[in-house]
Amino acid sequence: PNFDLIIRNGTIATASESYKADIGIRDGRIVAIGEALTGADEVVDATGKLVLPGGIDSHVHISQPSGPGIVMADDFESATRAAAFGGNSTVMPYCLQQKGESLRTVLKDYHALAQGNCHIDHSFHLIISDPTESVLGQELPALFANGYTSFKVFMTYEGMALDDYEMLSVLEVAREAGALVQIHAENYDAIRFLTDRLERAGKTAPHFHGRSRPIPVEREATHRAISLAELIDVPIMIVHVSNREAMEEIRRAQMRGLKVMGETCPQYLVLTESDMDRPGTEGAKYVCSPPPRDHASQEACWEGLQRGVFSVFSSDHCPFRYEDEAGKLAPKGRSSFRWVPNGIPGIETRLPILFSEGVVKGRISLEQFVALTATNHAKIYGLSGKGSIAVGYDADIAIWDPELKRPIQQAGLHHGADYTPFEGIEITGWPVSLLVRGNFIVREGELVGAKGEGRYLPRAKPFQSRPL
Ligand code: URP
Ligand code: ZN
Ligand code: ZN
Repeated sequence: PNFDLIIRNGTIATASESYKADIGIRDGRIVAIGEALTGADEVVDATGKLVLPGGIDSHVHISQPSGPGIVMADDFESATRAAAFGGNSTVMPYCLQQKGESLRTVLKDYHALAQGNCHIDHSFHLIISDPTESVLGQELPALFANGYTSFKVFMTYEGMALDDYEMLSVLEVAREAGALVQIHAENYDAIRFLTDRLERAGKTAPHFHGRSRPIPVEREATHRAISLAELIDVPIMIVHVSNREAMEEIRRAQMRGLKVMGETCPQYLVLTESDMDRPGTEGAKYVCSPPPRDHASQEACWEGLQRGVFSVFSSDHCPFRYEDEAGKLAPKGRSSFRWVPNGIPGIETRLPILFSEGVVKGRISLEQFVALTATNHAKIYGLSGKGSIAVGYDADIAIWDPELKRPIQQAGLHHGADYTPFEGIEITGWPVSLLVRGNFIVREGELVGAKGEGRYLPRAKPFQSRPL
């Protein structure tokens, strides 16, 4: 036979067009796209279905240490299983450097956690929390050459926040190497100050998490991050943008010709600050940073997606169990929002939320959906052969039923968390099958791939990493 598999008569979509055709797959790659292909070991009928590039989620946290006694709800097995059910074929988790650690040790640890346990492909970003001379001078450049071509830095969080001098030092190394720096932009001292004042006033419920990091905290840090990158002349990605003011800082920078990219996430489209107002401690289920804002902010995030201010839409999956002393309700977490671990699960619901709220409701086109959820992630972070449906590309394919209507329900999800912050949202359009390199991982809603099928992907130099 010509092919191992033919996917017949589906509607294929890429970042630039959609059309009906058959896809011929051999040895894990797409080798033909055309009408009435024949000669395969197996033919799958996709009539009435959408055939999309598998999602690439370039912002997820898996098995990341999160403070004393706190444990993330997903390991690599459960996170990549949930990701596969959510239509994703690649994830890019973070490897967190803790103070004093060498980056090599950090990477060894995360590779050991991932090795043999992933259902889908994965690549790694590094989080730099301790930019020592040897990290900046030796480790980062050497790791870049080995396929670790992006780093995240934090402007807030105890033990992680870099000051401006350190930020500039990391940006300088990134410029030299051609790496892409992702920035978590919130003003650390402002958050510390506001948190202290709120606690003094006895305002410790989860709701006050939002009050401790209001929009100016994010806007100021976004502006500062852009200014620092401009001083060094290096492209950056501002991650998890939650509101208009931060979005407009990025837009202004783009209009001035700077290479500043932006990312937003489902929580900023469909949650609001009032979700953290739920009775008792339930608001903790929605605590993430930046916090969900208001309806006007949701509109601004849509606008950012529509106009290309944001080039990627990621989950920022960062799961903690709710009914769990090692999760949202850690003993300290009950005493103040300050100690509630930040982050929410979302690896499986990212694509259905954007499809249903975006494509089905007419806010974005199907092609924009593909660009924002797959193609741009591959390009921006240097993943070659991924993120599109084209001859020569890996056969990473999600087959969607665009008419399947079902609300998001915890009972139907596959992650390790015991809740979803998106419970009850009505969704039209769900992925039903998922292939990675030509192999079915999920087929008609059933897991059929064995764990360990996912491969590690070293990355090339990111597109857009060249200085001006
Ligand atoms: O609250 C969040 N987003 N937690 C995950 C870590 C991060 O800042 O991305
Ligand atoms: Zn962050
Ligand atoms: Zn994150």
